[in-house]
Amino acid sequence: MRKGIILAGGAGSRLLPLTFAVTKQLLPIYDKPMIYYPLSTLLDLGINDILLISTEDDKSQFKKLLGDGSNFGIKLSYETQKRPNGIAEGLIIGEKFLSNHPCVFILGDNLFVGSMSQYKFRKEIENKKGATIFTYKVNDPQRYGIVTLNKKSKPLNITEKPKQPTSNNAITGIYFYDNNAVQIAKTLKPSSRNELEITDINQNYLNNNLLRVMVLDNDITWLDAGTISSFYEASNMISVIEKRTGKKIGCLEELAYLQNKISLKDLIKSRNRYGSSDYGFYLQKIIENHVKLGPKIE
Ligand code: TTP
Repeated sequence: MRKGIILAGGAGSRLLPLTFAVTKQLLPIYDKPMIYYPLSTLLDLGINDILLISTEDDKSQFKKLLGDGSNFGIKLSYETQKRPNGIAEGLIIGEKFLSNHPCVFILGDNLFVGSMSQYKFRKEIENKKGATIFTYKVNDPQRYGIVTLNKKSKPLNITEKPKQPTSNNAITGIYFYDNNAVQIAKTLKPSSRNELEITDINQNYLNNNLLRVMVLDNDITWLDAGTISSFYEASNMISVIEKRTGKKIGCLEELAYLQNKISLKDLIKSRNRYGSSDYGFYLQKIIENHVKLGPKIE
């Protein structure tokens, strides 16, 4: 069984002063806290046992918001990262939780709009050995970790924020790792910016010929909300799509219900938490449709 880790610590320094008192991942992206989106991606992938890593200060806020995960039919645990020592440290912190299971590791400020549960992505979940990273074509590759592929989509090299990029395949903030990732993380030395780098984990898999790359296509839009402009762009985009389609993106209870992780009774209980918000009325609509049409809503 593959477990999930969401990394929701960090300094959020590019969003100051917004993040002086509130962690980035609890800020709103349009109509819900940012953390709902990566959590919904894990739900969508069928991950039921999830660890959320945050700073000690923020842990109680996350617990207040998400509880033990039972509202979404999952098991949610919490660990803390003392200092933002780098993304790869999340794997070391998660060692006990993972207890030798493979994982999906996702960053708390990354949004994947569209279904990651498509067959081709889900298939990767079944892979027992190696790592899978997901890339997205960007027009400013200098800002990201970049992977260059050969003609058969096999990775040739990875470069972090290259001045002269050899490709525009940015590495996104979702990674599927086998049960070796923790041990690899433990061998890492801090980088020049004094962080344990996730790129070094991926490089290790690449060196051992165990790194697969999946290119996210038109069905999925990748957004990261780490800068003030990308933060507002993400909000705008979610707002436009939701208004246009009438469907909410990152609605945890809806996903849990559609996957039969929670019952109609649970859904009604959850709906009451959301009062007279749009989110609450959306859940109400799902409940009414269920009563009218049966369990699935289109
Ligand atoms: P980043 O955006 O790279 O870092 P940050 O959130 O600290 O922001 P800034 O660069 O503006 O100071 O982090 C990506 C995600 O990973 C984000 O959701 C926070 C999380 N993270 C941790 O939980 N611990 C860490 O040590 C780091 C570096 C990031």
